[in-house]
Amino acid sequence: MPLPRDVPFVPWDEFLRDRFDWQQGEHVTFVGNTGSGKTNLATQLLPMRDFVVALATKPSGKDKTMSSLVRQDRYQKVTAWPPPTVIGARSRRIVLWPPFERPEDIHQQQVVLDRALRDIFAAGGWTVFADELFYLCKFLGMSRLFEVFWSQARSLGISIVGGTQRPAWVPLMAFNQATHLFMYRTTHDADLKRMGGLGGLDDRLIREIAPRLPKYHALYLNTRDGEMMITKAEKR
Ligand SMILES: Nc1ncnc2c1ncn2[C@@H]1O[C@H](COP(=O)(O)OP(=O)(O)O)[C@@H](O)[C@H]1O
Ligand SMILES: [Mg+2]
Repeated sequence: MPLPRDVPFVPWDEFLRDRFDWQQGEHVTFVGNTGSGKTNLATQLLPMRDFVVALATKPSGKDKTMSSLVRQDRYQKVTAWPPPTVIGARSRRIVLWPPFERPEDIHQQQVVLDRALRDIFAAGGWTVFADELFYLCKFLGMSRLFEVFWSQARSLGISIVGGTQRPAWVPLMAFNQATHLFMYRTTHDADLKRMGGLGGLDDRLIREIAPRLPKYHALYLNTRDGEMMITKAEKR
């Protein structure tokens, strides 16, 4: 099925090198069903930042993404915040993974992540990888805290990289405060409405393209300049 001519397909290496202009303090949000390729793409953006903390919310050990950030990308795994101090570090890559072995551990998980985000807000400069926004926002009740980040963190140079399956499940600010949006194939009218209704974006085009995106293809939307393109990340 041919894609509309006015939205270019940009090969992944060109996208990363020439087209994806991501400044520290700008937020990135991913929307797509499970298996779309959100996490795979997101983890390939993170090397662009120097201070990254990935929030691991799945039961201990049971998260391939977080485990591979630790193993492959040499992220430091910590179970509590703050991480050990490194004086004068020019880069930090951390997976924050509070122990989650029993259902009741979610209370401690909430305490640890909440503490971390508050410290990060005060410190500035970090990129927070929140791959499971729905879990964090709705399940751990952190919507308000994330809204503070989405609305205020820009001036502090904090970037949130967040992913969700359905836009209707997380605060609107995940979208209207993000500079960079990646959306995968969807036919849900509520999703199309939410993404299309954002300022500066061509609603008609989004509705036309999003239901027809091939597997692993993302529609990239830049809310700063209204630019759209389609790309497909390499498999990590
Ligand atoms: N661009 C791609 N090309 C080939 N396989 C991919 C691509 N993106 C993701 N995959 C594979 O599809 C599966 C789901 O990807 P993932 O990034 O975990 O999706 P999501 O985070 O949206 O659930 C993984 O096994 C991943 O390796
Ligand atoms: Mg994922």
